[in-house]
Amino acid sequence: MARKPKGPRPVALITGASGGIGEALAHQFARGGYDLVLVARSEAKLAAVAEAVKADGAAAHIISLDLEMRGAGADLEAAVEERGVVIDVLVNNAGYGVTGAVVEADLAQQLGSIDLNVRVLTELCARFGAGMKARGRGGILNVASTAAFQPGPYFAVYYATKAYVLSFTEALNRELKDSGVHATALCPGPVETGFQARAEFDDSMGLMKLPMQTAEQVAKTGFTAFRRKQAVMIPGGMNFLMAKSAALAPRGVLLSMVETLQKKRQGA
Ligand SMILES: NC(=O)c1ccc[n+]([C@@H]2O[C@H](COP(=O)([O-])OP(=O)(O)OC[C@H]3O[C@@H](n4cnc5c(N)ncnc54)[C@H](OP(=O)(O)O)[C@@H]3O)[C@@H](O)[C@H]2O)c1
Repeated sequence: MARKPKGPRPVALITGASGGIGEALAHQFARGGYDLVLVARSEAKLAAVAEAVKADGAAAHIISLDLEMRGAGADLEAAVEERGVVIDVLVNNAGYGVTGAVVEADLAQQLGSIDLNVRVLTELCARFGAGMKARGRGGILNVASTAAFQPGPYFAVYYATKAYVLSFTEALNRELKDSGVHATALCPGPVETGFQARAEFDDSMGLMKLPMQTAEQVAKTGFTAFRRKQAVMIPGGMNFLMAKSAALAPRGVLLSMVETLQKKRQGA
């Protein structure tokens, strides 16, 4: 008997796929049966990831784009259309933080991180989510952080952007209820990636040597939660406990604890 031909693989678009958690998510989605659209600024790194996911059975398009630029959301949508690809899953993973006091840290970078972590994430959910809703199927995975659960003095903009991502994703997921589309917020704790260098964390205190999950562990947990249509996933038992206890702790105590940690990371 002739074997029934397999349908085309669904396609996941992943931002920030050139390294770190995004690269690990690319492998998870590839192994899970998805073809990919990989987006970041570094074309050569994206090409290397596209080559590597072939071993997982996935075909991958690469789109090299600075998502902080005005108009990047429309440019990305146009670039996807040009390639004749329909996006079944959107993974908003690209993001970064700027260490230091709000009034002293580089303002352009702080605003740039809001553009990437918040503005373009929102825009891509609206642009690609509309098509998903019209087709009655699809999913969105937004990478937030355990930073979403409390304010973060000396890393204030980053913590606030991640609080936005968590709040926005939970609300979006509710709005999409019964549409065939769901949204998941993935809230990792510290993970050793390019993130620490970009945030200019000072490691003279050895803080980066504290036990951290790997990007692969986070991506695996995130992918499983996404497939189960969970609204929020905090990978790692300790991260889960700390995030949940933040809701119960007195705000002043919480602020002091995070202030101390972030000042140390700043080398102050
Ligand atoms: N590492 C952690 O401890 C940690 C913890 C919780 C949450 N997170 C979140 O996890 C996500 C991934 O971070 P990561 O840890 O994997 O950091 P990472 O290794 O620095 O990766 C960041 C990714 O975002 C891309 N990116 C940065 N700026 C961009 C821009 N303007 N336009 C397009 N792409 C851009 C980078 O690629 P290019 O440089 O090639 O553009 C890279 O692929 C972020 O949202 C971060 O906030 C990280």
